[in-house]
This record gives sequence, C-alpha cells and structure tokens, in this order.
Amino acid sequence: MKYPDVGFESFFTWMNRPRIMYAPGVRKEIAFELSELGASKPVLVTDKGLIAAGVAEMVAREIRESDLELAGIFDNIVQDARLENINEGAEFYRSVAADSMVVVGGGSVMDTAKAINIMIGEDVDDFRPLAEQAALWSGVKALPPHVVFPTTAGTGSEVTTALVVLDTEARVKLQITHPINADLAMLDPELTVSLPPKVTAFTGMDALTHAVEGVTSTGAEPIADALGLHAIRLIFKYLPIAVKDPDNITARGCMLIASTLAGMCFGNTMTGGVHATAHALGAHYGIPHGLANGIMLPVVMAYNLEEAAERYMLVADAMGIAVDGMDPMEAAQCAVQAVKDLKEEIGLSETLKDFGVSDDPAVLRETVELAASDSQISYNPRYLEEDDLLSLYLKAR
Ligand SMILES: [Fe+2]
Repeated sequence: MKYPDVGFESFFTWMNRPRIMYAPGVRKEIAFELSELGASKPVLVTDKGLIAAGVAEMVAREIRESDLELAGIFDNIVQDARLENINEGAEFYRSVAADSMVVVGGGSVMDTAKAINIMIGEDVDDFRPLAEQAALWSGVKALPPHVVFPTTAGTGSEVTTALVVLDTEARVKLQITHPINADLAMLDPELTVSLPPKVTAFTGMDALTHAVEGVTSTGAEPIADALGLHAIRLIFKYLPIAVKDPDNITARGCMLIASTLAGMCFGNTMTGGVHATAHALGAHYGIPHGLANGIMLPVVMAYNLEEAAERYMLVADAMGIAVDGMDPMEAAQCAVQAVKDLKEEIGLSETLKDFGVSDDPAVLRETVELAASDSQISYNPRYLEEDDLLSLYLKAR
C-alpha cells in the first residue's frame, strides 16, 4: 500500500517500560529474574479460576522449586479490579511479609496487583484516595519488584501505566495512571492454552480495540502506529486460530505479543469512543470489558470514518485488505466490515440487547452521561456529543 497522507501532533512523549521476555515456558526463568530484581520472598497474585485451572500453579511451582520463598497466594479477585479487593490484597502482602509480587492473570488481576504494589510502595492502607487522584505522577515513591504473566491476550495491562478500578458503590470505573508499572512482563503462551474459546475471542477484541483506537486516536503518532498496526496484522491472522485450536502455541504466542504491542500503542496514545462507551457499559451492566469493546467497535468506527479515513485506511491495510486503488473512505469502510466478519468468525454475535440494555433514551441517559465524562472520550477522532453516544448505544443493540 502506498502510504496515505496521515498527520500527527507535533509533540509526543514515549514511555518505554517494562522489560519484556517472550518464550513458551519462559516462566522457568522466574526465580532468576526475581533474584536479579533483589527479591527473595514474593507473593503470588492471581484468581480462583486460575488456581482451579492449574495455571497459577505452573508459575508457583517454579518459585517453590527455587531458592526463593513463596510468601503466599492472594487469589481473592473477581471480574474487574475493585477497591475492596485491592485493600485486602495489600493487607495480605503485609501479613505474609512479602518483598515482591508475581502476578498471574488477566486484566482484572493485573490491575488489582498494580494497585496493591502502589499501596505497598506508598505505604498506605486505603487505595481510594489515590484512585480519586487519577494521575499519580508527582512525588511517587519507588515500588517493590513486580513481575507479571498475562494469562489473557487482551488487556495489555502488563505493559501500560494505566489501571481501571471498579467503584462498586458509585458504579463507575476509575481510571488511574502511575509512572511505575511492572519491572518485567513475561509472556508465556503455555499459560493461555486453557483459556476458553469465548474468553479468547472477547479478550482478543479488547486487544484489537486498543490497536484500532490507538492508531486512530487524536494522540496517534508514528511509534504507536508501528506497534498498533502490527498488532492488527497478528490479531487478524491468529485470533481465529487461537479460538478454534486452543492448544496452538504459535497462535497463542502471537496473540500474547499482539496484545502487548497493542498495549504499548494505546498506553501512549490513549483510546477513544469505544473504550468510553464500553467502560460505562461495564459499570452499569457488568458486560465484560472485551465483549463490550467487541460490540461497540464496528459501531464507533463507522461513526468516526469521516474524520479519519486515511488512518482507517492504514488499519484496513493491516487487516489484510487490498486497499491499493481505493480512496481512503472506501478502504475505511472495508475495515468496518472486516471487524464484523472477524467477530462472526470467532463466534461473537452478542448485542447490547442480550445484556438488557434498554432502547429507552431516558433509561440510557445515565450510561450516556457516564460515557460522556469518561477520560478516553477526548481522544476519539470525531467529537462525540451526548446525543451521538445515545445513537451509538442504540445502534449496538
Ligand atoms: Fe481495553
């Protein structure tokens, strides 16, 4: 494809943490890597599903069989990182006198663990005041060693400075950033083979949304473009394979890499209208994050095309569409269709109606207002008024 005429903001900064290691079986290096970080007594942070599936044990075993002491396992984490679980996790960390943490999990686990580590470093026993500050960038203290193994290929949380926390009382998702993320992300596709096809599908849509929104956001720039566009290439090739052939280590590995690339992309450019609308759906209807993104992505893309057709042309090209000879708008429309086709191929047919989302504007008002106040909305390439958000939700039913 001949490179289209795309611009970008003349100023941007680039964050380049953490170190990343990739290999099927890379977990076998965990004890050495922890020692290098000065850790000797790590706590393992995970969830009960990963304990039951034996995935947490695949990492715990490597620590037990080393010279290190496994301080304990904290597994009281449910869907979405929640303030109450975060505070409980920090209390657990202190009660077992851990000096570091190893995280095995998806987005909810990784975000809970980030918050726990911030609490330990900042020496506080309630995360709420920090969560309410949102951007924790000035005067931060050093954090203890933190190694993370993502077990889903979706969130990219292993490489971002962001964490999303559900405030169950206020029914809002708080978005927080802190400059010190994990020291090391270990990408081991063997930890993801037991992920059910449905979860593989919708977490993959989260990664795709990060890449598409990252490349088309108002904060888009060339470094993020390179990362996001390659994530899209990998996702379009390997997500259908990972869904249909769960034991395929090549597909699982390339999805983990894609998710990490997409995380690095949006971690610097932010996202847009899909994430803003999806966060509100998660807070009000409990729709899993990746699924909410998967539902909203083609609808928001179709709305955005007229403002960023050249950038969606890049996206279309990365999806494998032969865009040469097309005008940017035609190519951009093909990208929307390609997302719909991918969703069908991986068995994601849900609409908002399946989750009881009303078509009554009065009922939807609260969710529209929450989406309109979401920090990600300002990065959407096309301006979104509340009436626009309402019509997007209605189209996604
Ligand atoms: Fe996301």
